[in-house]
Amino acid sequence: MKILVTGGAGFIGSNFIFHMREKHPAYELVCLDKLTYAGNLETLAPVMEEPNFRFIRADIADREAVYSIFAAEQPDVVVNFAAESHVDRSIENPAVFLETNVMGTQVLLDACRKYGIGRYHQVSTDEVYGDLPLDRPDLFFTEQTPLHTSSPYSASKAAADLLCSAYQRTYNMPITISRCSNNYGPYQFPEKLIPLMIANALADKPLPVYGEGLNVRDWLYVEDHCAAIDLILERGQVGQVYNIGGHNEMKNIDIVRRILAILGKPESLITYVTDRKGHDMRYAIDPSFIHRELGWLPETRFDEGIQKTVQWYLDNRAWWERIVDGEYQGYYERMYANR
Ligand code: NAD
Ligand code: DAU
Repeated sequence: MKILVTGGAGFIGSNFIFHMREKHPAYELVCLDKLTYAGNLETLAPVMEEPNFRFIRADIADREAVYSIFAAEQPDVVVNFAAESHVDRSIENPAVFLETNVMGTQVLLDACRKYGIGRYHQVSTDEVYGDLPLDRPDLFFTEQTPLHTSSPYSASKAAADLLCSAYQRTYNMPITISRCSNNYGPYQFPEKLIPLMIANALADKPLPVYGEGLNVRDWLYVEDHCAAIDLILERGQVGQVYNIGGHNEMKNIDIVRRILAILGKPESLITYVTDRKGHDMRYAIDPSFIHRELGWLPETRFDEGIQKTVQWYLDNRAWWERIVDGEYQGYYERMYANR
C-alpha cells in the first residue's frame, strides 16, 4: 500500500504521517508539500531517513509536477491535507486560497482520474457549514447541513468539497470527504489560537482575544482526527462525507484562561482586540454518523489533551521559537499592531 500525503509538512498532515507509521509500518508514505510558511521539514525529521518514507517538494496546483509525481509513484491512496488553512490570512489575501484549495484540489482529482487510485480522501473542515447561534445549543452540524460559508478560507474549502463530490458522481471516482472541527496538539503553527496564546503567555506578551472572546469552537486532539481518517480509508464508504468532532465546545476566553492557569501566568495578560471580520460564532459537530458507521470515538479528553499540548510547546521551544522569530514576525505586526 502506497499513500500520497499532501500537506504532510504541516500540522495535521505531519501528525497523520506519524500516526500511519506507527499503525501501519509496512505502508509506503510519500509526502508532497510545497513548504509554504506553514510547512516545516524539521517536523518530519524523525521519518526522513526511513526507507518507506519519501518527501517531495511540489505545489499541488502545478499540474505538470503533480502528473509526473503520480506517474513515478503510482500511489494507491491520496489523502489531501495541503491547503492554505488560516482564516485571518484568507481575509487579508483570498487569492492564494483559491489557487491552492480549489485549483490544487482539482489538479489532484484530475491526476487521480488520469493515473487511477484506490481512494482519494479530501480533508475538509466544519467551517464549510458556516456557524450556529450561541442561543441554540440544541443545533449541531450534521452531514446534511447545507454549506454556508463565511470567510474566503471556508468558501475555498467548500468549493473543493463540491468538486470532490462532482468528480465522484460524474467520473465514478472512489472519493471520501471528512469535515473535522478545530484541532489542537503538537506541531500546530503558532498563528492559531492555542499555540499563539501559549507562545505569548510564555513571553509575557498580551494575549489578543478577538471581540469578547465568546465565540465557541469544538476542540479535538489532533491524534483523534488522524485515527478517524485512518478508519475512513480502511472502512469508509465511497461518496460519503464524515463529520469528525468530539462534543467539546468551549468559548475562546475559557481556552485562554485555561492556558494561563496551566502556565501559572496572570489573566492581566488578556487583551481584547478588534473582532475578526465575519467571525463565525459557534461550531459544533454531530459526530454520531462516524460513530455509528465506523465505531470512531475520540480518545483524548480536553483536560488531558491541553496539558499534553502545553507540555509539548514547553519541551519543543526551538521548533516554534524559530518560527516566531522569523518572517512570521512581519505577519504578527501586520495582524495585531494597532488592532
Ligand atoms: P497547515 O497550514 O498547518 O499545513 C498546511 C500544509 O500544506 C503545509 O505543510 C503547507 O506547506 C502545505 N501546502 C500549502 N499549500 C500547498 C500547495 N499549494 N501545495 C502543496 N502543499 C501545500 O494546515 P493544517 O492545520 O495542518 O490543516 C490541514 C488540512 O486540514 C487543511 O486542509 C485544513 O483545511 C484541514 N482542517 C484543519 C483543521 C484545524 O483545526 N487545523 C480542522 C479541520 C480541517
Ligand atoms: O473548525 C476547523 C477550522 O479551525 C479549520 O478549518 C481551520 O484551518 C483552523 O484554522 C481553525 O479555524 P478557526 O478560525 O476556528 O481557528 P483559529 O485558531 O484561527 O481561531 C480560533 C478562535 O480563536 C476563533 O474564534 C478566533 C479566535 N482567535 C484566534 C486568534 C488567532 C482569537 O481570539 N485571537 C487570535 O489571536
